Amino acid sequence: MQTVKRTPIIVIVLSLAVCRASAWFVTKPPTTGTTSGGTAACPSSKYRPIDSSCSSRLNPGWGKAGEPYARMLPPNYADGISSPPVMTNGSAYVSARTISFNVFSIDEVPDPNNTLVNIFFLQAIGNDLSAPAGSDDTVECCANGQIVPNAPNRCFPVAIPDNDALYSWYNITCLNYARLLTRTPAQPSQPVQQMNQATSLLDLSFVYGSTVSQSNSLRTFSGGRLLAVRRNGME
Ligand SMILES: *[C@@H]1O[C@H](CO)[C@@H](O)[C@H](O)[C@H]1NC(C)=O
Ligand SMILES: *[C@@H]1O[C@H](CO)[C@@H](O)[C@H](O)[C@H]1NC(C)=O
Ligand SMILES: *[C@@H]1O[C@H](CO)[C@@H](O)[C@H](O)[C@H]1NC(C)=O
Repeated sequence: MQTVKRTPIIVIVLSLAVCRASAWFVTKPPTTGTTSGGTAACPSSKYRPIDSSCSSRLNPGWGKAGEPYARMLPPNYADGISSPPVMTNGSAYVSARTISFNVFSIDEVPDPNNTLVNIFFLQAIGNDLSAPAGSDDTVECCANGQIVPNAPNRCFPVAIPDNDALYSWYNITCLNYARLLTRTPAQPSQPVQQMNQATSLLDLSFVYGSTVSQSNSLRTFSGGRLLAVRRNGME
């Protein structure tokens, strides 16, 4: 079965350690779950729209794909709009690599209680609820382990300390990281907003898509079937 391309969980887990925690904020959940009755904005329908709009008839945009993530905490940009946060004394924060190195061992530590299926289950849940706009874009901020000159302006690569216990062996001083696409605020002085391309409902949107065009590209339009691939004669 073909499915909508979503960021692998490994990337999501790693980016949690960096500064894409916003990926984990769900868009405002709907407060009601019915479209019966219908309104001008949300006509009555047996099925909800593929983008989950009108999950709340009072607030048709809540939970809809393509809307900004709801924030659990106020934004914290150095310039109040979009620049990366700094410490209260103005200094840059410690590198994300330094933090992850100090939190996670360089060695593999077998988990005695959980199996790998937990990761795939979490990946399914995460991808169903969250698909940050721009996270699949190819933005090259590092080349041969070094920051590229004139890097694209979305680049915010993770700086690796020269004495890094692992990367110093490979002459790597730059880990690729590009910022997400954001919605330009209504007022120039307001903070940018990250967009969720997935619906906020647990609805298998990573299988069926969150837009009409995605949904159409996954279907055969014959017998209600999805497109499928055949491998070794098996569908
Ligand atoms: C700001 O605070 C951090 C953490 O206490 C410290 O390491 C850094 O040197 C300070 N920067 C300045 C410019 O004082
Ligand atoms: C595994 O589960 C046991 C029993 O619940 C618990 O005592 C232990 O701390 C767990 N170990 C880890 C590494 O989570
Ligand atoms: C590390 O890589 C950079 C860019 O490829 C190169 O200029 C530099 O000489 C290398 N340093 C070492 C110690 O190999």
